[in-house]
Amino acid sequence: MNSPKVVVEGLCKVFGTSPKQAIDMLAGGATKEEVFARTGQIVGVHNVSFEVKEGEIFVLMGLSGSGKSTLIRLINRLVEPTAGKVLIDGRDVASVPRSELTALRRKDMSMVFQSFALMPQRTVLSNAAFGLEVAGVGRKDRERRAMSVLEQVGLAPFAQKLPAQLSGGMQQRVGLARALAVNPSLMIMDEAFSALDPLKRKEMQNVLLELQREQRRTILFVSHDLEEAMRIGTRIAIMEGGRVVQIGTPQEIITNPADDYVQAFFDGIDTSRYLTAGDLMQTDAVPLMKHSAQIDASAVAATLNGHADYAFVLDSERRIRGFVSRDATGGASTLLNQVECIHRTTPLDDVVSRVVASRAPLPVVEADGSYCGSVNKTNVLKVLTRHRGSHV
Ligand SMILES: Nc1ncnc2c1ncn2[C@@H]1O[C@H](COP(=O)(O)OP(=O)(O)O)[C@@H](O)[C@H]1O
Ligand SMILES: [Mg+2]
Repeated sequence: MNSPKVVVEGLCKVFGTSPKQAIDMLAGGATKEEVFARTGQIVGVHNVSFEVKEGEIFVLMGLSGSGKSTLIRLINRLVEPTAGKVLIDGRDVASVPRSELTALRRKDMSMVFQSFALMPQRTVLSNAAFGLEVAGVGRKDRERRAMSVLEQVGLAPFAQKLPAQLSGGMQQRVGLARALAVNPSLMIMDEAFSALDPLKRKEMQNVLLELQREQRRTILFVSHDLEEAMRIGTRIAIMEGGRVVQIGTPQEIITNPADDYVQAFFDGIDTSRYLTAGDLMQTDAVPLMKHSAQIDASAVAATLNGHADYAFVLDSERRIRGFVSRDATGGASTLLNQVECIHRTTPLDDVVSRVVASRAPLPVVEADGSYCGSVNKTNVLKVLTRHRGSHV
């Protein structure tokens, strides 16, 4: 198991001259608003802990003012913490001497902001190579590396153009190329795509996901847009008033929002398309029976136990061999019926069409083929009504 790339422990930031009183109030459960009303201190971040694993895109999501930017500035130490600590590759960021901080930020934590501030008089190539230039990389080398990232973001033909000759979306890609060129071990992206119109934003998300497929990086991505967070996030931390209120995969958060604040982000969003068979399956709805060469009626009857209509038949490795059901007279049928399995990661829409076409519940299996649960029409309907609301 790899050690985590970033560890954040009990991190707090209070803006103001007397943070102690604020911290005590927060520890007693006071909100950011209460702290401000009583003490005039502004809570940026309160008691945040999480780990970012190597190679994941970890998204910080929350309303404006919830503390996202402060949290990432605490991580790259543009802001000093009131309490708590940050470890990057196991190293306490607070222990890095001031003189090494710039190098650390440049090499190990590359930042991408909403506004990339490209230099208008320089070519696209020169802009993309800028981070390397600042880091003291020689011209030939940095232009070669910059060219290779321009290729990755689809801008190689524009290398000799000036930024003004490019569209807004393409300029944004130059900014991304500049951050990628230094090959940072941690990329920090603060609302990097937020200023783009929805179409360009989606295009940039695709560029990022594509880059991520080619070369896995650890990315800390800030967004106030839940759909963006769900599209690109391996895991999402949801922030409210300086606190992290929930951390999980997009599926975990959709299926189990921690509170009304989290739930409110989903209003008007069709969350069902982020769900998979594994999210809606039931694990104990269908009784299970051991497979044998000669299926015997009394064993089937015992498994169905008077109320179930179907039972799955499993071999010794928990692989599905078929299902048995009641016969027309209500007795136990010994006939082993074939059944197609659904993979745990199958998206909801595919699950729907298959479940609707099937009378019996369908088994859900892990990657290795072993049984893990079942889905039927009722599960699917419930999820669709909950997540699509009136759009069904
Ligand atoms: N330098 C600062 N001085 C005082 N308050 C600040 C400072 N930076 C941020 N804040 C406050 O901290 C809170 C969190 O801000 P921020 O981290 O920028 O939120 P977000 O990025 O989620 O929009 C806000 O209430 C903001 O006003
Ligand atoms: Mg911000």
